[in-house]
Amino acid sequence: MILDAIEKRYSVRHYKDQPVEEDKLAEVLEAARLAPSGSNLQPWKLVVVRDRATIRSMVHAIGGQQFVEQAPVLIVACMNGEGYNLGHRYEGAVIDITIALDHMTLQAASMGLGTCWLGNYDGNEIRALLDIPSENPVVVLLALGYPDENHPHRPRPRKPLDELVCWEKFTG
Ligand SMILES: Cc1cc2nc3c(=O)[nH]c(=O)nc-3n(C[C@H](O)[C@H](O)[C@H](O)COP(=O)(O)O)c2cc1C
Repeated sequence: MILDAIEKRYSVRHYKDQPVEEDKLAEVLEAARLAPSGSNLQPWKLVVVRDRATIRSMVHAIGGQQFVEQAPVLIVACMNGEGYNLGHRYEGAVIDITIALDHMTLQAASMGLGTCWLGNYDGNEIRALLDIPSENPVVVLLALGYPDENHPHRPRPRKPLDELVCWEKFTG
């Protein structure tokens, strides 16, 4: 059930010192590959970083968020292709990439892996570290790895459904 993975997923900010197996990483990436996108443009490139020294060097560019250096995998999602550059498709590409990464977070959760979205970053710094061309804007990053169970997860609250949903017409 997809809802099981949705309920299992949370932002993991403590990772075990344990690599992610190649086949599991491949499945997480496959979940992104199969994601829908506007006009099926698939306007992204995912830079998968596993080199420890590179990950360490990226911490400063990711808002100094120290836990990031524990993650055995960092995935940097960039826009790619002609499609996004048409002005009106820029926002579309952000939506497409977000869907692809959400697929990844859920596939990861279903296999016992943890993820954390990383939206607090300096795009220019990331670009310089990973040789990302300026025509490939960085949209968001994902940390990936096995959660460290020594740091139990405290679920973040969610608004009740009746605050988020109204029926037939917009009601406050
Ligand atoms: C687009 C986006 C960017 C985020 N950026 C960060 C970040 O830079 N650092 C961080 O620790 N968490 C980040 N988060 C995680 C959120 O804080 C988290 O999803 C939210 O508090 C709900 O908690 P949960 O993911 O554990 O359910 C981000 C989440 C999203 C969706």
